[in-house]
Amino acid sequence: MPDNRLISPEWMEQEDHTESSIRPLHLNDYIGQDKVKENIRIFVLAAKERDESLDHVLLSGPPGLGKTTLASIVANEIGKPIRKTSGPAIERPGDLAAILTNLEPGEVLFIDEIHRLNRTVEEIMYPAMEDYVIDIVIGKGPAARTLRLDLPPFTLIGATTRPGLLSSPLRDRFGINCRLDYYDEEDLRQIIIRAAGILNISIDRDGAAEIARRSRGTPRVANRLLKRVRDYAMVKADDRISKKVADQALQMLEIDAWGLDMMDRMILDAIIHKFNGGPVGLETLAASISEEHDTLTDVYEPYLLKMGLIQKTPRGRVATERAYQHLGISYSRPAESNNLFSWNEQ
Ligand code: ADE
Repeated sequence: MPDNRLISPEWMEQEDHTESSIRPLHLNDYIGQDKVKENIRIFVLAAKERDESLDHVLLSGPPGLGKTTLASIVANEIGKPIRKTSGPAIERPGDLAAILTNLEPGEVLFIDEIHRLNRTVEEIMYPAMEDYVIDIVIGKGPAARTLRLDLPPFTLIGATTRPGLLSSPLRDRFGINCRLDYYDEEDLRQIIIRAAGILNISIDRDGAAEIARRSRGTPRVANRLLKRVRDYAMVKADDRISKKVADQALQMLEIDAWGLDMMDRMILDAIIHKFNGGPVGLETLAASISEEHDTLTDVYEPYLLKMGLIQKTPRGRVATERAYQHLGISYSRPAESNNLFSWNEQ
C-alpha cells in the first residue's frame, strides 16, 4: 500500500466537516463555470460510451474556485474512486511509483499544486500519462537496471494556481485543459443559497446577494462568510440573515463593500504609503507586510488585479488611481508614464 502521508484525506487543508457536506457531488449541482462544466460533461460521456478511461485533466485557476470539488465530481461522474495527493507530498520517484502501481483500472489520481512536483518525479509521470508504464531504476552505478512496470489505465487530474510554472512536457500531456475563473455575483448568490439550505440557515435573497458581492468571486470565501454571518445573526438578529444583518456582520469582520479584507487593504496601503504608489517588486512588497511571496501571488494579487486596483509593470506592482479612490486617498498622476503593460507572469 502507498504511504499514508502521500494519499490520505489528512493532507488536504484542515476544514470543518460542514465543508464536505456542502460540496456538490455531481455536475448538475455544481453552479457556475458553465464552459468548463459543458466540456467535462461531453468528455466524460464520450469516455464512458467508449468504455475508456477519461483523458488526463488539468484544472487551473485561483485558489478556492472549486478545483478539488470538480475533480471529485469527475470521479463520481465516471463512477470511479479518486485518490488525492499533492505535488509537495510526492518527494521521491519511489513515492509516485507506489501511488501509481496501487491504482485500480480507471481510477482517478488527483494531484493538487501539481506545479510543485519536483523534476525527477515529473519525469516518471511522462510515460505513466502517455503509455501507462513507469521505468524504475534499480541499483546504482554500472549494476543499475531499468525495470519497466505496466500500470492500469488511469486518469490524472492535476490542479494548479500557477499553470505557467508547469513544464511544457507535463502540460502537453494533459488532453483536457480547463481554466476556472472568478464567479459572478449571481452564481455566488446561488452557491450561498444552496449551502444555506444544506446547513439550515435562514437567509433571504438580498442577504445572500450582499454576501455574494463581498466574496471576491470565490465560493470558498462565500461559504466561509456565510458561516460567520450566521454566527452574527444567531447572536444579534434572531437567526435570520437579511441584507442589513449581512452588512453589519461583514463590517464587523472588516470586509469592505468590494470584498477586500484587512490584508488586501494592507497591500494597497503599503504600495501607496511605503513605496510611493509603486512600482515595487513582489519580494519587497511581501517582506514589507510580512506575508509569504506565494500567498501574495496566488491569493491576493489576482483579485486586486481583477478589480483594477493594482497593475503589473516591468519594474513591479503599481497602485492604480482606483485604489487611491477606494481607500479615500488623494491621487496625483505620476509625471512619467510607468510603462504599464499586462502579462501573465505565472
Ligand atoms: N460550493 C463550492 N463551490 C460550488 C459550486 N461551484 N457550486 C455549488 N456549490 C459549491
